[in-house]
Amino acid sequence: MSVSTQEAPAAASFADAMSARLGAAFEALGLEAALGRVVRSDRPDLSPFQCNGAMAAAKAAKRAPRDIAQEVVARISDDPLFGEIEIAGPGFVNITPGNAAVDERARGLSADERAGAVAVETPRAVVFDFGGPNVAKPMHVGHLRSAVIGDALQRLFRFRGDRVTSDVHLGDWGLQMGHLITELEDEARDLPYFAEGAEGPFPEDPPVTIEDLARLYPLASAKAKEDPERLARSRRATAELQAGRPGYRALLRHFINVSVAALKADYTRLGVSFDLWKGESDVDALIPGLVENFKSAGVAEKSEGAWVVRVARADDKKELAPLILVTSEGSALYGTTDLATILDRVEDLSPDLILYVVDQRQAQHFEQVFRAADKAKLLSEDKLEHIGFGTVNGPDGKPYKTREGGVLRLADLLDGALEKAEARLSEAGLGADLSEDERADVAHKVAIAAIRFADLQNHRLTNYIFDLDRFTSFEGKTGPYLLYAAVRMKSLLRKAAEEGVAPGEIHVGSDEERRLVFALDDFDRALEQAYDKRAPNILCDHVYGVAQALSKFYAACPVLAAPDETTKASRLALVALTLKQLTLALDLLGIEAPERM
Ligand code: ARG
Repeated sequence: MSVSTQEAPAAASFADAMSARLGAAFEALGLEAALGRVVRSDRPDLSPFQCNGAMAAAKAAKRAPRDIAQEVVARISDDPLFGEIEIAGPGFVNITPGNAAVDERARGLSADERAGAVAVETPRAVVFDFGGPNVAKPMHVGHLRSAVIGDALQRLFRFRGDRVTSDVHLGDWGLQMGHLITELEDEARDLPYFAEGAEGPFPEDPPVTIEDLARLYPLASAKAKEDPERLARSRRATAELQAGRPGYRALLRHFINVSVAALKADYTRLGVSFDLWKGESDVDALIPGLVENFKSAGVAEKSEGAWVVRVARADDKKELAPLILVTSEGSALYGTTDLATILDRVEDLSPDLILYVVDQRQAQHFEQVFRAADKAKLLSEDKLEHIGFGTVNGPDGKPYKTREGGVLRLADLLDGALEKAEARLSEAGLGADLSEDERADVAHKVAIAAIRFADLQNHRLTNYIFDLDRFTSFEGKTGPYLLYAAVRMKSLLRKAAEEGVAPGEIHVGSDEERRLVFALDDFDRALEQAYDKRAPNILCDHVYGVAQALSKFYAACPVLAAPDETTKASRLALVALTLKQLTLALDLLGIEAPERM
């Protein structure tokens, strides 16, 4: 029996191909094609795939579901795509694809450099807005999620063919800048930036280090909490900065440069990169025009001296406060800079979609901004999306803190993960024969895999407990387990090459091989769902499923010790295919496997 490739629909997976055929069979009975949807079975012991459409059809058709199932099955029974078909219970259709079809699919995946991943039909211009670390302070664990989730999503969107632009979107325009300026003034009043009426030019060397910034901000913020006069001073400095006082503008530049250098170091270690390093301060010049437009279009109204945009709607379940565009003191707020940033992006990038990967606790802010943008016809609301996420918690279930009670800095967190990864490697006797440099590189990769996978495998909205012991384990659903699976395949392929064995044509002979092919075949579905739902955890589940199918395959099917040359070459090709897909998928999660360990 051979599968006719001519009439095979361009399907991304078995499930799709079978859905198309079954759909046609349902249609031929005068029923809806959608009823033919085939999914992975929830009883894989009975069959790998199933279709439940007959039960759904029964009510509308006023017929017994088993009868419908029988008629549908009769129409596909000689199609080689379907190997075994069985009607079970009230009308479940249990399906096992035909052997020739499985072989053909495995060979197709193996020949495809994208290992089954299909690109979107209509690429879009997509902008990613990240969690915007704040210039005054080093990144902390809260910024980890935005970086890790946002990075996985930007890689996924790019991989599927969209034109992606990512922007770190620094928080560099609020009160924290006024705090920094005034606190620095108290420490170093003689600096030229503070002289009344100073026009510059000002020194090119920064007057502060990142440590200074990290120290000055909490000092000022603590004082301002106690002392209203101190707070008022920071506010005035912020207003003067925003109004363009040259000395303050020069300081802002220094603060940003010093911060960006430190942030880049952290992001580089994590393997996250951005196309744009813009910040709130970059859209300052757009604000007056934007405010004018909001006023003249009647979108902004005067309220108690401030200008606001009323965004509440009659059918809102919770009352949504108006967005404050300009305060009664004349300053722009967080929402204002976000609106100006939308304007900036519309002008520069004509986005079809802007995704904000930011803490879920800012949901209301984004709802206000999106509605205001829509009202003012900046960009329609359906092109703006908040991709929220939960918190990283300590063992007590509360947001993660250091032993001293402070928020853990990202750099410290990465150091901790690295140390744990090194310990785990020695514990497992891994990497002992590697050079020092290579060992350090492996430990780094294990640490990053541990942190990234631990974060991504949860649905982004769930909070999770930060537990380095669990994250770095080589067993269970962890990053290191997946790295180990990849490294094992790499070493097998190296060994085969040394023995002069080359991958050949795939012939699927056993259940374990078949299940591995089904797992691999599911790649595009996982990508598509992760993409549609902006949910990298779906891709994590896929990757983990593949690794598990691989380990069952190893246990049952010797590769280099296979009974004959054809089987050896076939199994080797299956390993090469699995490695290719795993490498692609891990890369989308920002995880890289070493060559050996
Ligand atoms: N800087 C903000 C913060 O740390 C996050 C910015 C998120 N992005 C945005 N466009 N508002 O809370």
